[in-house]
Amino acid sequence: MEKILVIGCSGQIGSELTLELRNRYGDQNVIATDIRPAPAEIAETGKFEILDVMDTAKLQLILEHERITQVYHLAAILSGNAEKRPLASWDINMKSLINVLELARELKIKKVFWPSSIAVFGPTTPRYNTPQFTIMEPNTVYGISKLAGERWIEYYYQKYGVDTRSLRYPGLISYKTEAGGGTTDYAVEIFYEAVRKKKYECFLGPQSDLPMMFMSDAIKATIDLMEADASALSLRSSYNVGGICFNPQQLRNTSLNLRSPTSPISARPLQIPGLPASMTPWPARTGDLPASTIFLKWLN
Ligand SMILES: NC(=O)c1ccc[n+]([C@@H]2O[C@H](COP(=O)([O-])OP(=O)(O)OC[C@H]3O[C@@H](n4cnc5c(N)ncnc54)[C@H](O)[C@@H]3O)[C@@H](O)[C@H]2O)c1
Repeated sequence: MEKILVIGCSGQIGSELTLELRNRYGDQNVIATDIRPAPAEIAETGKFEILDVMDTAKLQLILEHERITQVYHLAAILSGNAEKRPLASWDINMKSLINVLELARELKIKKVFWPSSIAVFGPTTPRYNTPQFTIMEPNTVYGISKLAGERWIEYYYQKYGVDTRSLRYPGLISYKTEAGGGTTDYAVEIFYEAVRKKKYECFLGPQSDLPMMFMSDAIKATIDLMEADASALSLRSSYNVGGICFNPQQLRNTSLNLRSPTSPISARPLQIPGLPASMTPWPARTGDLPASTIFLKWLN
């Protein structure tokens, strides 16, 4: 029987992934943790504990006490927030990963999921249909930590046999939890702000194409990856996954078509002064080979 630990369950991904894991594996078999309180649906459907992933002793206690077999490590400082506190974010993103990997090695945890990001790419990477293997020169502290993290998880697999699995998520689109400070979060914030303030000032240029994915597809891809037979996996760094691609201008045009009695967005156009598109450091659309040929059938 699998016993799963989710670290970072209160965030944008964790709040939905935890519930889906509970649906599949049983409420009592998915232990949710975060440094802040959990959303009611998580706190009410199963075990939740406050955990700072930097607290190695407490993490070890939970892993041992609950006889955890799989870990989903989602806690991180995301791109936008990381740029405000680069060294502290590097510290949290890297040390937390090493903490999890070391304990997984010592305690022989069966599988570890840790998400990477399109932020591993940089301005010298081909922007359209970005291949799995290509130039990677991230120029954000978040991207640098994700690229280093990819190297570490592969290292723990090769050197110690820890069964590490990872996806390079594009920007994820969801509505249940407000986004956690990532660059692609504009695509969700734009709608909240349109309703609240009837205007949105975007830090990205109007033509800045970025890759995106719906949360339900990302959750499916994640669980498919974790359930895939180990022999089907050719990569232990992180797989590209593809979804859709759009820019702030296109989203603005879409939102102008929305109608709601409380938010006549069309009455006042959203404002997107932003930066030139050339300043976007990330790919516009990632290719998803080899993931799509091996195990991922996440697009419905
Ligand atoms: N959301 C996206 O679009 C996206 C895209 C690419 C990669 N990712 C990656 O997916 C993971 C989860 O992202 P998210 O969007 O859910 O982020 P989020 O910020 O919404 O959630 C992260 C959660 O981690 C928790 N946390 C932070 N520091 C912690 C600590 N020291 N101990 C325990 N918990 C802590 C936060 O309280 C938060 O609930 C991150 O690794 C992120 O880099 C997300």
